[in-house]
Amino acid sequence: MNDFYRHWMKPLLFRFDPEFVHHQTLQFLAWLKDSSCGQDFTRAVFPSTALPTQVCGLTFPNPLGLAAGMDKNGIAIPTWEAMGFGFCEMGGVTRFPQPGNPKPRLFRVPQTEAIINRMGFNNIGADAVLSNLPPQGRPSAAPLAINIGKSKRTPLERAHEDFCYTFERLWEQGDLFVINVSSPNTPGLRTLQDRSALHPILKALVNANKRKVSESVSGHGPKPLFVKISPDRETDQINEIVDLCMELELDGIVATNTTTQRPSPNQGSRPMVYDRETGGLSGQPLRRRSTEVIRQITSRSHGKLTVIGVGGIDGPESAWEKIAAGASLCQIYSGLIFRGPGIIRSIVNGLQAQLRHHDFKSLKEAVGSNRPYQVEPKPLQP
Ligand SMILES: Cc1cc2nc3c(=O)[nH]c(=O)nc-3n(C[C@H](O)[C@H](O)[C@H](O)COP(=O)(O)O)c2cc1C
Repeated sequence: MNDFYRHWMKPLLFRFDPEFVHHQTLQFLAWLKDSSCGQDFTRAVFPSTALPTQVCGLTFPNPLGLAAGMDKNGIAIPTWEAMGFGFCEMGGVTRFPQPGNPKPRLFRVPQTEAIINRMGFNNIGADAVLSNLPPQGRPSAAPLAINIGKSKRTPLERAHEDFCYTFERLWEQGDLFVINVSSPNTPGLRTLQDRSALHPILKALVNANKRKVSESVSGHGPKPLFVKISPDRETDQINEIVDLCMELELDGIVATNTTTQRPSPNQGSRPMVYDRETGGLSGQPLRRRSTEVIRQITSRSHGKLTVIGVGGIDGPESAWEKIAAGASLCQIYSGLIFRGPGIIRSIVNGLQAQLRHHDFKSLKEAVGSNRPYQVEPKPLQP
């Protein structure tokens, strides 16, 4: 599957505009979801590997998830699961529908296997998204995370109302929620990471969570709440967010969103698109920084906050790096574009092999272990 994608699919897809390909692919995946044999077909093409893990009281069939931004309106959720993801983070969803920034706003950087985007939270809004989401109590084995952003038209000082509206509207459908205050593509959004701005937002969401529990007829407990942070924050600023999350008893942090920096590649020349296009950079150049942030959160919180690691994962080694640094779960976006969907199985198999090599009985034992990646892990016992 990996070779087929690399040699045939990718050269074809990369001839076209990135957003056009993204749109067409999503429509196809949504069609697979709706067609009667689509799910069976997808499962047959992408046989998944089980590596179950329990995080925040939820059971994940494996620790690799789809990162936010790929399926903003949640139109293909069952297909992502059928492709082998252990969970899917849909969104960012905002209270109001919005078209996002003018096109073009999505750029590939093949030299560094990176993407630059300035999409600007294009989505159909919380009310419309609701009808796309699988019904509550679905038989799905993979948890659904919902990423919430702030509508562009809502002033920063009223951000808490905007976040709370979307959270409450989608509360029954999501298994966990991610508060996105780190997208570089909504003016001023990243200032919401400052303690003075973040405190009222998180407090309002924690209260809304309690309120929803008391009103819920389905008997759900509180939904795990995560904050997604930027890799561009200084050490002190990250510590401040970690401390605030612990103070307000949030469940964890998603580290990290895209960067506005343009880290130079290790080899080769600096791609021209780096300077030409503004927006958030993701993919391989982000890998090292996002792992550093994970390590810092783990150390500052003494492992008390759950970390979802994302940024530059492109195979088993980079996924293991995040787990060993302290992430309980990890996610990919750019790696899926450059390596294709076969990467899902490669990563989960690779993580399993690392557990065997290090004699870990479960993934939990590996989290924060800082064990190095073993290039040729032990073969399976007969
Ligand atoms: C086109 C695009 C759109 C994205 N949209 C969102 C979003 O709506 N909300 C969010 O929290 N992150 C968004 N992200 C960031 C990703 O979820 C992820 O944090 C980032 O791309 C780093 O992971 P990667 O290196 O595997 O791509 C987006 C990324 C890309 C490339």
